[in-house]
Amino acid sequence: MLLCIKHGTLWMILCCDVMSVIGQSQCRSSHLQTTNVTAALDSDALLPCDFNENLLQEARSGDVAVVWTHGTMINLVEIKLSGQPSYWDHRGGRVRTFPKMPGNFSLLISRVQESDLGRYRCELFDGSNCSIAYEVVELRQLKLISVETLWLVDNWYFVAAGGAIIVSLFITGACCVQYKCVKAPLSRSGNLAVGRKT
Ligand SMILES: *[C@@H]1O[C@H](CO)[C@@H](O)[C@H](O)[C@H]1NC(C)=O
Ligand SMILES: *[C@@H]1O[C@H](CO)[C@@H](O)[C@H](O)[C@H]1NC(C)=O
Ligand SMILES: *[C@@H]1O[C@H](CO)[C@@H](O)[C@H](O)[C@H]1NC(C)=O
Repeated sequence: MLLCIKHGTLWMILCCDVMSVIGQSQCRSSHLQTTNVTAALDSDALLPCDFNENLLQEARSGDVAVVWTHGTMINLVEIKLSGQPSYWDHRGGRVRTFPKMPGNFSLLISRVQESDLGRYRCELFDGSNCSIAYEVVELRQLKLISVETLWLVDNWYFVAAGGAIIVSLFITGACCVQYKCVKAPLSRSGNLAVGRKT
């Protein structure tokens, strides 16, 4: 009798532990990483998202899917484990997934517009209410001015050399003008002590 109860409590404890481990491993909605992506307007942007095998296996129910949201939870698309997408908002066909690569939950946005910028969230769900984990992607605009600045920083010696050439051309030009307008008429008159201001 006593043995039975002991076994009973032991079983209960074991059972509770197993349950709590499962409860912890699922629906914990852990934030895995944040990625920064920059794209110039009108160019394409790849928003990366993948989850490791262990996480995908943890999601045991048959109803596993990734949901992409933008900003304050504007739903864009749900991607099944098989890669099959269901769109809420594909932004005129500019938002695409990779259905032929199961497990690659990345998003490709073509011809990026200003309204596309901001924070995206790629969240792995088991069923409709159990969020296992999520990743964040910040899409920022690549400003062309910063590209030019980078170019200047990378090529400062060419810029400096160009500047030096322009300055020397200017000096040469100034000397020529002085020679023609000042020196030449004076030297014709035979006076060699010129060029100095008296
Ligand atoms: C992303 O950008 C933010 C803000 O500029 C910065 O604090 C963060 O370190 C960046 N993250 C990565 C992974 O580069
Ligand atoms: C997903 O597919 C895109 C486009 O082919 C590729 O650039 C990216 O590296 C892939 N990501 C993974 C995790 O395989
Ligand atoms: C998910 O949660 C919502 C509100 O929290 C609830 O109304 C709904 O019934 C839940 N769905 C499932 C499948 O548990």
